[in-house]
Amino acid sequence: MFEKLSPMPADPILGLMAKYREDTHPNKIDLGVGVYKDEAGHTPILACVKKAEQLRIDTEETKVYIGPAGSGSFNQLIGDLAFGTDNPAILANRIRSVSTPGGTGSLRVAADFIKRINPNAAIWVSDPTWANHIGLFEAAGITVKTYPYYDHENKTLKFDEMLATLATISSEDVVLLHACCHNPSGMDLTNEQWDKVIELTQQQGFTPLIDMAYQGFGESVDQDAYGVRQMAATVEDMILCSSCSKNFGLYRERIGACSIVAKDSQTADIALSVLLYVVRCIYSMPPAHGAAIVETILGSSDLKQQWLDELKVMRDRINGNRAMLVNKLIEKGVTRDFSFIAQQKGMFSFLGITPEQVAQLQREHSIYMVDSSRISIAGISEANVDYLAESIAKVL
Ligand code: LMR
Repeated sequence: MFEKLSPMPADPILGLMAKYREDTHPNKIDLGVGVYKDEAGHTPILACVKKAEQLRIDTEETKVYIGPAGSGSFNQLIGDLAFGTDNPAILANRIRSVSTPGGTGSLRVAADFIKRINPNAAIWVSDPTWANHIGLFEAAGITVKTYPYYDHENKTLKFDEMLATLATISSEDVVLLHACCHNPSGMDLTNEQWDKVIELTQQQGFTPLIDMAYQGFGESVDQDAYGVRQMAATVEDMILCSSCSKNFGLYRERIGACSIVAKDSQTADIALSVLLYVVRCIYSMPPAHGAAIVETILGSSDLKQQWLDELKVMRDRINGNRAMLVNKLIEKGVTRDFSFIAQQKGMFSFLGITPEQVAQLQREHSIYMVDSSRISIAGISEANVDYLAESIAKVL
């Protein structure tokens, strides 16, 4: 049977990790996969995570099955973090959450949940979006369509075009929005733009699915959740897929959450029963370790404060890198305007160079980025920015 198989190409993002590791160039730079790196190019374990982990080791009493919903305490705390404790949807008991294996696990749960409600629903994603969104929803049998989002030429949002397309989407469909730190463009909606999108969501009656993989990496934990909170407070139905990979640095522990906001508490209970069924059919139940760390941190005011401080260090470093790259390019005599990089938010921006130039940077300078010229800003450091800017200047 297996002789019928033909090989699949390496994942456009994950494939870069392997290539980078094999490269022996002393000045190689990894701007590929979206993981935080410190000045030394290391992805550290947060100190608050280390403490929480130790606490769990000392107090954990069993490894018995946790159940499809995962940890109830994690689910509540992560819901509070995303929606805000005073959100009318929380106060009305309209939200149910399950722990999932990372943000990707959450998206897959959401996909199967949508398929169950409406097998013909299409999901509309921004053009462009995280490459895996498309494969993931298609793998679940959902048709993927796109709405205009990023204007590559002018480095701006195609907001009017986005609204015009959203205004054609029916109540049968789902629209995927990025809560903050848009992946791959770094171009976020302002609060006023969110308000307009929410108004349109209500008017059209489609279901919003918000992907929040970078809460706290843009401006702050609260500001980054503006759209999520307003949407939940305003519309009847909504899905939130969140991830603790980046903001808690728990990448390989695979912890995230899928939250359903329903029109009332009774409908939310029914939705939860469907979520649990879906989870049981995919992976039975989520891993518990990451959730245990996050709930220990969020459940302790000291550890939570430490986490917020450490998150700020990561955010400030990324924002600093943005400005540093822009200035360095000017210093190297580059006349093309790259100032947009300093204005965008989160882990990524498009450099805006051609695929040939991306390939040349890899081949001749050992600088790795996704073919679309998406760069992971955290891979820049004071030690490598000179070489990076010089190399970019050369290929331009
Ligand atoms: C990225 O976009 O680089 C990250 O979200 C990591 C991944 O899984 O693709």
